Amino acid sequence: MAERVTVAKTTDIPLNEARAFPVGDRMIAIFNQDGEFHAMDDFCPHMGASLACGWIDKDTVTCPWHAWRFSLVDGCWLDNPKIKVDLFTVVVVGDEIQVEFNDE
Ligand code: FES
Repeated sequence: MAERVTVAKTTDIPLNEARAFPVGDRMIAIFNQDGEFHAMDDFCPHMGASLACGWIDKDTVTCPWHAWRFSLVDGCWLDNPKIKVDLFTVVVVGDEIQVEFNDE
């Protein structure tokens, strides 16, 4: 069963920027892409940079360290879709950004 956690307020993340927030023992990057919010593991699978510090271009984020690009839609590395970053379902309730985490 999924657990829904309030991670941030919609006003915490400027348009077409991202911020990282601690949730349990991990950091979650929340992206505000043209007013649509996406949640992704903040840990780049290459060498661990914060993806929230990357550059957003449409539905892609580019890692700030070595420019690997990841889809905000499915989490795939665009150069090799076998490598993915975890994405999470986002629900906006009023001004709260809530993220769903599955029990594992
Ligand atoms: S740490 Fe992200 S591309 Fe290298």
